[in-house]
Amino acid sequence: MFKTIEWTDDGVRMIDQTKLPREEVYLTCRDYREVAEAIRSMVIRGAPAIGVAAAMGVALGVKNSQATTVTELRAEFDRIAETISRTRPTAVNLFWAVDRMRRVFEELLAGPLPDAEKLAAVKSRLVEEAQGVLAEDVAINRAMGRHGAALLPDAGTVLTHCNAGALATGGYGTALGVIRAAVAAGKKLQVFADETRPFLQGARLTAWELMQDGIPVTLISDSMAGHFMKQGEIKAVIVGADRIAANGDVANKIGTYSVAVLAHVHGIPFYVAAPISTLDLRLASGDLIPIEERSSTEVTQLAGISIAPANVVARHPAFDVTPHRYVTAIVTERGVARPPFTESLRTLAG
Ligand code: MRU
Repeated sequence: MFKTIEWTDDGVRMIDQTKLPREEVYLTCRDYREVAEAIRSMVIRGAPAIGVAAAMGVALGVKNSQATTVTELRAEFDRIAETISRTRPTAVNLFWAVDRMRRVFEELLAGPLPDAEKLAAVKSRLVEEAQGVLAEDVAINRAMGRHGAALLPDAGTVLTHCNAGALATGGYGTALGVIRAAVAAGKKLQVFADETRPFLQGARLTAWELMQDGIPVTLISDSMAGHFMKQGEIKAVIVGADRIAANGDVANKIGTYSVAVLAHVHGIPFYVAAPISTLDLRLASGDLIPIEERSSTEVTQLAGISIAPANVVARHPAFDVTPHRYVTAIVTERGVARPPFTESLRTLAG
């Protein structure tokens, strides 16, 4: 199976998700600025994968640093963290990963060693930490799969939106991880993948990933979800998340909110699968989640070809917020949270 991201002696290697499914090519970033650009341009995307990339970007920047004193390296760390943090504002895993790397960095620099030894120690320790973030993410997704599989029906069709699979994480996936675990447990599921306008993560990535795995997948356009729900063809919806507020409001790929409202109207359970690192309990509600606004050309063009009149005004909020009242349950690596989420999420987060 493909590797979404890995640390190599040459740098941070990632599958180029802007080229899938036409080409399976890999990009090696040799500088932290290249990692930042890969996140911004969505060579790598999906909240947990962005977190792994951010951790590796920080490790790469520190490893390549020419600083000779702790003071110089601290200033450089701030530049690296700032550059990586400015790439995508909604996925909280990015900020979580940078903060985690900063804690390890500061702990090592606080010790009694001479500067030269501290610099050498921090360089190798941050590489280990970033590799740890990747390995943990895969284990977390498998745990989510174990907790979430029981929620899905024994047979029938499950709808998903965007790509919350191995490509969006260190491996295995969040929402697709739960589906994978359910299929591995013997459930006879098939997946309806929303194409996910405008960036087409569903058409390009989810369809490709599930076909690689041999899980039956049917691609539908976003506008068809309501029709199939009304026909009784969809038994459950499961999606990932980019940030979840303390009250259980969920920011996820634009279009998720519409799917959640439709599911509610049709009495279909709407599940969210996300690691604890996607919770942002400092935010009381989803209204406080920053929503990334991307280039309007991602709406007016398809694969570089204009599909709208020249100079037409277009908007591209990349995420929306699903109010918690439409969320049936949130699957995490520590168990399943149910309403009222303010209590259940706080308990799970510890
Ligand atoms: O813009 P993207 O492709 O990074 O958005 C990704 C999503 O919205 C995913 O559903 C989310 O990050 C969860 S990924 C496990």
